[in-house]
Amino acid sequence: MKVEDLNKCAGSTDWNVLYWVLGTILMPVALPLALFNIWQRFRAQKYRNQLPGKVVLITGASSGVGEALAHVFYKAGCKVILAARRTLELERVKKDLLALDLEPAYPPTVLGLDLAELNTIPDFVTRVLGVYNQVDILINNGGISVRADVASTAVDVDLKIMVVNYFGSVALTKALLPSMLKRKSGHICFISSVQGKFAIPQRAAYSASKHAMQAFADSLRSEVASKNINVSTVSPGYVRTQLSLNALTGTGKSYGKMDDSTAKGMSPDKLAERILKCILRNEPDILVSDVQAKVAYYLRHLCPSLFFWIMAKRALKLEKAEKKTG
Ligand SMILES: NC(=O)c1ccc[n+]([C@@H]2O[C@H](COP(=O)([O-])OP(=O)(O)OC[C@H]3O[C@@H](n4cnc5c(N)ncnc54)[C@H](OP(=O)(O)O)[C@@H]3O)[C@@H](O)[C@H]2O)c1
Repeated sequence: MKVEDLNKCAGSTDWNVLYWVLGTILMPVALPLALFNIWQRFRAQKYRNQLPGKVVLITGASSGVGEALAHVFYKAGCKVILAARRTLELERVKKDLLALDLEPAYPPTVLGLDLAELNTIPDFVTRVLGVYNQVDILINNGGISVRADVASTAVDVDLKIMVVNYFGSVALTKALLPSMLKRKSGHICFISSVQGKFAIPQRAAYSASKHAMQAFADSLRSEVASKNINVSTVSPGYVRTQLSLNALTGTGKSYGKMDDSTAKGMSPDKLAERILKCILRNEPDILVSDVQAKVAYYLRHLCPSLFFWIMAKRALKLEKAEKKTG
């Protein structure tokens, strides 16, 4: 036998091994996954066709992710109700939507809401239900962050973050839930954060509020599953919004700076599209982030000691950087 023939034989053996690996190991996994993906796309398309006319309540719609969500759902033909404290900003968002001049489209509704004022939330829901008599999709998006270590954070600040990010969304969900249960229909979406999956230094209050939100949503999902009400949690990594500008310091003042990580984050429009897809596909829990946050998430759960060691290094680095800038 010539050397070239031997090489050919070796080559065909390599291909045979590859075919064997693909056929016996990968195909049984890849094929069902591919079929599931195709089925999910068909289902999402079917629900997308049902979106026009659905009533969508979005909290925190005056900027960032909420504003982007308002655009995505409005363009999909939904009746959007925009809620936040700054009603002038909500009017600006409404004006931008109307300027799109879409046909047919339902004029957006603007309603003032302060998530920190828990006792006003039942009245707020009465006003919401007064508009279209129902809410098909509730997006709990409004929230604030913090930039301070635990030692220098006043308890009042911990409370404020927890009330706005967690109890505000809980109170709103509870006030709307009876109407959804009565109609046996609805979708509740919680905009959490990767920091609802793992905590990083200088964000204790924020992380805690998002962990609480995650747990609340997980529990609620199981309770309402048989009542045709769906619950999704979306955990994004950094998004290019005003979140760091609006964050609180340990004393409750406005942080007022655009963090590098936030400035380099994903576009809110892209995230809003992904959130719409998550709702259409009825995905229970999604992480929308870069690889780094995904690795951190798996490390936290599979190798916690290594994760905590990395976080301790990060805390030290932040402390040194703070001392430098005074
Ligand atoms: N940006 C990120 O990197 C990132 C990453 C993961 C998750 N998220 C989450 O995404 C959501 C939206 O934040 P964003 O990034 O879009 O930041 P943003 O631009 O600062 O928007 C925050 C929104 O929340 C509203 N809000 C704040 N306090 C409120 C209160 N007491 N009552 C009612 N509404 C309130 C604000 O409206 P008013 O000031 O007009 O009330 C604003 O519309 C938050 O839940 C945040 O935790 C953001």
